[in-house]
Amino acid sequence: MNKQNDYSVVLNNTLKYATDFLNKIDYDNVCATKSFEKLREDLKKPLNAKSEPPDKVISELVKDVDGGLLGSAGGRFFAWVIGGAVPAALAADWLTSTWDQNAALYACSPAEAVIEEVVGEWLKNILGLPQQTSFALTTGCQMAHFTCLAAARNELLKKHSWDVELKGLSGAPGIHILTNRLLHASVERAARFLALGCECIKPLEVNEAGQLKSDSLRTALEDFKDEPVIVQLCAGDINTGMYDNFNEIIPLAHSHNAWVHVDGAFGLWANASDKYNHLLKGVEHADSWATDGHKWLNVPYDYGYAFIKNSEAHKASMSLRASYLTHADEARDQFDWNPEWSRRGRGVSTYAAIRQLGTEGIANLVERCCKYAHDLVIGIGKLKGAEIIWEPKINQGLIRFVHPEIKYTEQENDVFTDMVIERINASGKLFVGGTTWNGRRCMRISICGWQTDEEDIEISIKAVDEVLHNVLSYSRLSHSMDSSRL
Ligand SMILES: Cc1ncc(COP(=O)(O)O)c(C=O)c1O
Repeated sequence: MNKQNDYSVVLNNTLKYATDFLNKIDYDNVCATKSFEKLREDLKKPLNAKSEPPDKVISELVKDVDGGLLGSAGGRFFAWVIGGAVPAALAADWLTSTWDQNAALYACSPAEAVIEEVVGEWLKNILGLPQQTSFALTTGCQMAHFTCLAAARNELLKKHSWDVELKGLSGAPGIHILTNRLLHASVERAARFLALGCECIKPLEVNEAGQLKSDSLRTALEDFKDEPVIVQLCAGDINTGMYDNFNEIIPLAHSHNAWVHVDGAFGLWANASDKYNHLLKGVEHADSWATDGHKWLNVPYDYGYAFIKNSEAHKASMSLRASYLTHADEARDQFDWNPEWSRRGRGVSTYAAIRQLGTEGIANLVERCCKYAHDLVIGIGKLKGAEIIWEPKINQGLIRFVHPEIKYTEQENDVFTDMVIERINASGKLFVGGTTWNGRRCMRISICGWQTDEEDIEISIKAVDEVLHNVLSYSRLSHSMDSSRL
């Protein structure tokens, strides 16, 4: 087998497949166009006993997934919280796989270890976090929560003379998580992974803006006086982009010896911008922070970041020793800080994204996304049948569709909203999400992709206008025929 040739044919062709995909992303359908059954039929090949030429494998794969991919790398994808990948980050991600290093230890890959060391320092700088903070590059914010809360568990129980790494949780004092009721479910799942259990989570009252109320926190802290407590705060709610009042809440939590953890999956990036960093005033006083690279920094999946002020607790909860491992004296062994053992070079893509964008470019990316989210929500809000429920303060907004002529009940308008969302996505021009907010169905707009520009916003508003026009005409007609149906 000619190894050299094996690589070059498939990689050269793959470059073409990749650039073809990216070059048409602006014109292609943003939604999937192939049915579930067809995807299965195409992808479920008979399990082969004999080997296949690499280029055949890849060319067939490209053909078979066609129509089953969403345009989330493009400029008109506004569902969930999904960023694209800036070119340097994408290229670095390819190289990460090409180099195929096990970035567990300095000994396994000196360059990868140093890249992560550099990236950690840069990230703290960009995100405005204390320099002595330790960090881990994880697969995403979910595992960043896990890493942060593992350190919190270690430290809080240590204060109660309990070594959780040695003894586990059986017989340990119970940990309470006091939280803004807008808690993201990934924190709940981290609590489950750490055997803290969902019942330890106590959602507290919020004010009109959705921020945790200090009075309700004070009462809860009194209720759990002298018990181990984590106060969970929000830097960017998934529906509204709301931020807790860190300056008020963190000192209160600390006065009761609680550990403060911040979910800033995307919202922490607002600290990169002078225009938006006021939202994060005081966040640097927390004990741990979790965020993502694959959202607002626009690196590909899977890149998340955990930061922990108490590096001793962080290391104690993650590190271990085994006779066959080689540990560095001076360099940073990633293994000491991450939940994974073997892992890909998780710093490379982040390193490249930061270098490509620079701190000014990151600030500009954040500001652009916020502006476009605002323009899009305001633009759609002016259309007949659309109501703005949340005007974006950052990059998240909510719209509800309410029939302007037919007097539907709130429940019927919920159905109507979901129907419009479905039609918008089926148009293939843009892709949006749905959510339930304050008990009502809404369309969610979230913008964190670097590709989105003014033209995308114009095309999107026009597409929503067309959908609404068709839906309203149709529902008028069907209502006149049968008023019980939408
Ligand atoms: C606020 C928030 N926290 C946590 C997460 C989980 O992040 P990840 O999907 O990177 O694990 C998300 C994902 O959308 C999020 O929006």
